[in-house]
Amino acid sequence: MRCMIVYTSVHHNNTEKIARAMAGPLGAEVVRAAEAEPEAVASADLVGFGSGIYFSNHHKTLLAFAESLPVRQGGKAFVFSTSGRGGTGFHRKLNGILAEKGYAIVGEFACKGWDTYSVFKLIGGLNKGRPDGDDLERAAAFAGGLAGS
Ligand SMILES: Cc1cc2nc3c(=O)[nH]c(=O)nc-3n(C[C@H](O)[C@H](O)[C@H](O)COP(=O)(O)O)c2cc1C
Repeated sequence: MRCMIVYTSVHHNNTEKIARAMAGPLGAEVVRAAEAEPEAVASADLVGFGSGIYFSNHHKTLLAFAESLPVRQGGKAFVFSTSGRGGTGFHRKLNGILAEKGYAIVGEFACKGWDTYSVFKLIGGLNKGRPDGDDLERAAAFAGGLAGS
């Protein structure tokens, strides 16, 4: 099974840490959305898409990359994020684009990430130290659970 993880991580590399923790159990190739080739991604058996959350959605470069994919009926994908608030509620837009491209979403993962946007930087940011070791373990376990997908 050929797995790829496509990500954008620009604020504190929070999501990149999660992407790399997930890559091990899946034997996945990890690529930045800005450098990924749509055709190579479309031919993978399982693709993970993740970024930090920006104004309630995944980063625009990841959304644009998903929009650039060819339609691939029968493709499998998982979606992940880090954010100030945490939770998979921010995944709706990316999930919708991937569904239009023919992907079945086989799993979702979210955790909190260090956030120094705007006034939060005055107090050292929210969620300092996140993702932490527990988050990375949970991410690896999540990916391990998808290995047979
Ligand atoms: C410009 C900006 C907008 C953000 N918007 C949100 C948001 O709407 N909701 C939220 O929970 N976190 C928000 N965050 C926090 C980021 O999602 C969080 O820090 C994330 O872990 C960053 O991931 P990255 O380091 O991989 O880019 C925002 C951060 C920035 C810098």
